[in-house]
Amino acid sequence: MTKIEKISPQSLAEAKRIILSGGVVGIPTETVYGLGGNAFDDGAVKKIFEVKGRPNDNPLIAHIHLDYDLSKIIDYDTPCAKKLREAFLPGPLTLVYPSTNKVSPFVSCGLNTLAVRVPSHDGAQAFLREVDVPVVAPSANLSKHVSPTSALHVYEDFAGKIPLILDGGECEGGIESTVCDVTGDIPIILRPGLITKEMIEQVCGACEVYAPVLKAGDRAKSPGMMYKHYSPRCQTALFEKGALSNAKSRVREELDKGRKVAVLCENLLLKEFVGIDAQMLDLGSSPDEMATNLYKLLRQSEKIADVLVAIEPSAQGGVMEGVMNRLKKACLSTDINAKS
Ligand code: TXA
Ligand code: MG
Repeated sequence: MTKIEKISPQSLAEAKRIILSGGVVGIPTETVYGLGGNAFDDGAVKKIFEVKGRPNDNPLIAHIHLDYDLSKIIDYDTPCAKKLREAFLPGPLTLVYPSTNKVSPFVSCGLNTLAVRVPSHDGAQAFLREVDVPVVAPSANLSKHVSPTSALHVYEDFAGKIPLILDGGECEGGIESTVCDVTGDIPIILRPGLITKEMIEQVCGACEVYAPVLKAGDRAKSPGMMYKHYSPRCQTALFEKGALSNAKSRVREELDKGRKVAVLCENLLLKEFVGIDAQMLDLGSSPDEMATNLYKLLRQSEKIADVLVAIEPSAQGGVMEGVMNRLKKACLSTDINAKS
């Protein structure tokens, strides 16, 4: 049985008991919900990979509370990491440090680095203080499915498979943390998110974005970037911002075939679909709103539609890099999740 419990002294004590005995707990953060386990415990880390169905070459992020001694889990600090911590932590930024053999070897899948995150969510901080060990937590979705932004989303994917989900309300951030490699002189963004390239540049003077051109057999710096991700379990089609009329034609074609259609677009475009019998999913107007709404709407689409037609919003840069990164991966290919 899987319990969903609001954060309270009782539920935190129960979460601690589960974590310290090698179990896995659903936990809220300001970005998305995580599936947490003790980073020092090989069995707990393996369980996370198993229960998620995660490929075993995709490393995990260790979450710590604000006062946790970082030197317990990393080899050495770097000047740019220090500046970024001061500017943005606690918050939706994960830093990748040099680290060898300090936590379970299964956490980093053989890389000599460790990704560390200090979430700002009050419930997450309370939980991390209670357990007082680093907690590895991938997003609490089945591998390839849409990331969860509520306790109920976690329940949908893991009911019966984990004992407890701590309910900390809906996630405000809505997309996963920015992952930034700080092992060298210049920070390198491995996964875009709410802490943007522009924000990191302001603090460190420079920032690169990792854009791998991989040949067969190469290993990516951040293996998770190579996988199809975040996908609703319906067919998907993504249209570029200039292709509104193509999107509309596609919607009409699908409706003519008798299929149920959902349209995901920015608020500005809703009026274009008045009189068309599609379910409209309103991403909102600002980039931050779109980040908050994206996963909730992707999860909704699979419940109400056979086909999701998504249209790229007009805003660009900043947080939109993260939003479009997720939306493109969600719509990459429909083979695996398409309804038969
Ligand atoms: O917001 C978040 O980061 C959420 C919440 C739960 O904290 N967590 C999350 O974890 O998104 P996950 O496992 O879904 O994504 C972790 C990403 C993957 O792309 C992974 O490849 C990358 O971080 N990563 C983890 N450790 C790494 C390392 N040592 N070097 C490079 N990339 C790493
Ligand atoms: Mg994930």
